Amino acid sequence: MAGAGSGRIARIAEAAEERTGIAAALRHSVSHTIPGGSRWVYVFGSALAATLLLQTVSGILLGFYYVPSVDHAHTTVAYIQKEVALGWLVRGVHHYGASAVIVILLLHLARTVLWGAYRERREALWLAGITLLVLVMGFGFTGYLLPWDQKAYFGTQVAGGIAASVPFAGTTQMQLLLGGKEVGQATLSRFFALHVFVLPLVTAFVLALHIRFFRRVGAAGAAVEKSERLKRRPYFPAQFTRDVFASILVVAVLVALSAYSPAVLGPKADPGAEFVPRPEWYFLWIFEILKVVPAFWGAVVLPGAIVLGLAMLPWLDRGPDRRFRKRLVPIGAFGLLAAVVVTLTAAGLIADSRDPKIQAQHAEARAYLDEPFEPDEIGRKSGGAIVIGPPPAAFTANCAGCHSATGEGQIGPSLRGISARPSRTVDDIAKLLVSPGAFGLGEGMPSFEKLEEEERRAIAEWVASLPE
Ligand code: HEC
Repeated sequence: MAGAGSGRIARIAEAAEERTGIAAALRHSVSHTIPGGSRWVYVFGSALAATLLLQTVSGILLGFYYVPSVDHAHTTVAYIQKEVALGWLVRGVHHYGASAVIVILLLHLARTVLWGAYRERREALWLAGITLLVLVMGFGFTGYLLPWDQKAYFGTQVAGGIAASVPFAGTTQMQLLLGGKEVGQATLSRFFALHVFVLPLVTAFVLALHIRFFRRVGAAGAAVEKSERLKRRPYFPAQFTRDVFASILVVAVLVALSAYSPAVLGPKADPGAEFVPRPEWYFLWIFEILKVVPAFWGAVVLPGAIVLGLAMLPWLDRGPDRRFRKRLVPIGAFGLLAAVVVTLTAAGLIADSRDPKIQAQHAEARAYLDEPFEPDEIGRKSGGAIVIGPPPAAFTANCAGCHSATGEGQIGPSLRGISARPSRTVDDIAKLLVSPGAFGLGEGMPSFEKLEEEERRAIAEWVASLPE
């Protein structure tokens, strides 16, 4: 019987392959060769693709709960972090994943520069890669605002100021970016749309081009005098195994980071508060430059020139001989740029660590993270998801004095998670409001006989929907 079964499965697989060609496509995708064979330093491209995939998956999961409104963005992120099952992990992976994407992309880029791998018909491949660098920075920039905490709000305000510093069209630039004269709902909606619709679409397209071009021109391989003399070795399985290992390592590191150092979320943005704006670490070097250079030159012209210079590398550094010692000028220039950026980043981190105000901000954010989830206006839970909305007016008027607006205890006990307890269904609670004594409650809890039946019902439904 087993033999007949597996024979049938094989026939179905064969028929499916005939119609889809998926197995052939998969075989083809690992069928290329590498001049000089596999190396650990070649893993960054695959690791980057894997991390981008992880960002997509974790981003979609965050989207199941996140609400891009100034009233609810912060609460939904706090809810994900503190209440949703494994929410801390999903948010942590997405948070640290963003940094991982940048780090791996820069390693991938540095490797390509050192090996001169943009040469020999790889200009289009290289340009697509540089475009990906800019897109990834765009993800970091727009994603930073979405949690709508203090650092998000004030950091983005600085970005608005930078846009405003552009000569002639500054105000227009700023209004285009922020959707108004200051950071507000329009900014959040705009950044959200860019972060989840525009950038992923464009990135998927450019990544597809990047991979397509790579397939066309092939791996550059070892940096030698004449690469065509190198023996070509198959990508599969030696390099494939390394790539898979590196990708798994990235995931493991992200999970470990999320567990041991949860992604920080500060208190909700308060435009009236005083706050020293700080960017994500990968923009810190620009902030350092802005301490001495005007915004437009430091944050627009200079990064623009760096990107342009990088983009032009294949035309500045050409020729077949890719050995390091034959390419000291481009490698030296790139090394100098890297050293300056790393030094500025380190200087920024050290300055921050010595600034009592910034340290106090960090401490406040960490303390907020440890506080229990405060539902704000969100309290209803329906089928595992949260429903946005304030408590019914009748609850605020009649019950909030003793049970608090979020159902937490005050004079009366906490009502949160109450529907999980015996004889506390919606029906029970509605009846309990008429005769608390019948449900074993003492004098402290008054009767609400005088309320309309419908009001009691609305109150009971809301109370029963409160999460733990
Ligand atoms: C004057 C203060 C006060 C007000 C107003 C009040 N409660 Fe209470 N409530 C209490 C106290 C005290 C208890 C605990 C009674 C006991 O356990 O003996 C209680 C208990 C409860 C319980 C049972 C909790 C449990 O642990 O099973 C529910 C449900 C409840 N209240 C709902 C409401 C709702 C809904 C309203 C508004 C319509 C409301 N209460 C208004 C003081 C109040």
